Amino acid sequence: MNDQPAGFVNRPVPKDIHLREAIDQLRKEKKAVILAHYYQTGDIQDIADFVGDSLALAQWASKTDADIIVLCGVHFMGETAKILCPDKKVLVPDLNAGCSLADSCPAPAFAEFVKNHPDHTVISYVNTTAAVKAVTDVVVTSTNAKQIVDSFPKETKIIFGPDRNLGNYINSITGREMLLWDGACHVHEKFSLEKILELKKQYPDAEIITHPECKQPIIEVSDFVGSTAALIKHTSQSDKKQFIVATESGVIHDMRKKNPDKEFIPAPPNDSTCACNECEFMRLNTMEKLYNCLRYELPEIYVDRKVQEKAIKPIRRMLEISEQLGL
Ligand code: 13P
Ligand code: SF4
Repeated sequence: MNDQPAGFVNRPVPKDIHLREAIDQLRKEKKAVILAHYYQTGDIQDIADFVGDSLALAQWASKTDADIIVLCGVHFMGETAKILCPDKKVLVPDLNAGCSLADSCPAPAFAEFVKNHPDHTVISYVNTTAAVKAVTDVVVTSTNAKQIVDSFPKETKIIFGPDRNLGNYINSITGREMLLWDGACHVHEKFSLEKILELKKQYPDAEIITHPECKQPIIEVSDFVGSTAALIKHTSQSDKKQFIVATESGVIHDMRKKNPDKEFIPAPPNDSTCACNECEFMRLNTMEKLYNCLRYELPEIYVDRKVQEKAIKPIRRMLEISEQLGL
């Protein structure tokens, strides 16, 4: 995807380099800020200036006075930062870090869908391309989706895209009948109900905690459903000592840091022998690529100016509503 300079991504890092120190020095020299999503590897989360979920990363990007934003996450997160800060340089360590959910919603088809429902308000999840955001009225993340949907009168007709699982979940907790785009995240869709129930037998006192991008049967057996930030907060606030975590397993790094006395068991996917579920796009970023990215100021995110001017409006609207709601 995009124009990643040929051969750049896996450029070898000189052997005598101490990665942590070199990254730290480069970020200071270049007045760069490193923002990381909770699905990044632990070493990247630990060196970042700020670790957050999708909403927090957008909020942080909108406020920073750094010259360069290095977004350790996936492409749409870099794009969101670039839309908010068109005059800053925005870098993502590996431009191949895409998103199956964003890919499940091609902009021309979504624009056609919107055009065919002219009386609908369009609410799009942040996991979308800039071109999809450009035909959207308000962007949401899983942290604020319920509250933003609730902020519209009950009779408002709403298109919600692209995640059908999040859309179904929001419909179920708000009593709405939003028209849903039929997209999904391959990571959250593949958790195994059978394996989760098996784990629950093994750890009967554990709470099952789940991201709303998961399918309904997983949500139904869960003790708590919430966004990445809400899941992390819940594990700190709950009296329970064990958690079966049905989301990308990167979040467990922060959960363990905040709760060293508690046990976190990653929920397994249905199609592998691996005990946890990782987003292979998120995991494309590495400390080596982060170093190269700061050193060479590549690869950079670009957004067409006309698309940027349209896409910034629904993102700003999300940030304004979230601020009013204290999110
Ligand atoms: P949040 O960070 O908004 O919880 O989203 C999860 C996700 O899948 C990010 O790609
Ligand atoms: Fe996209 Fe799913 Fe990966 Fe999040 S976990 S970046 S929604 S593919």
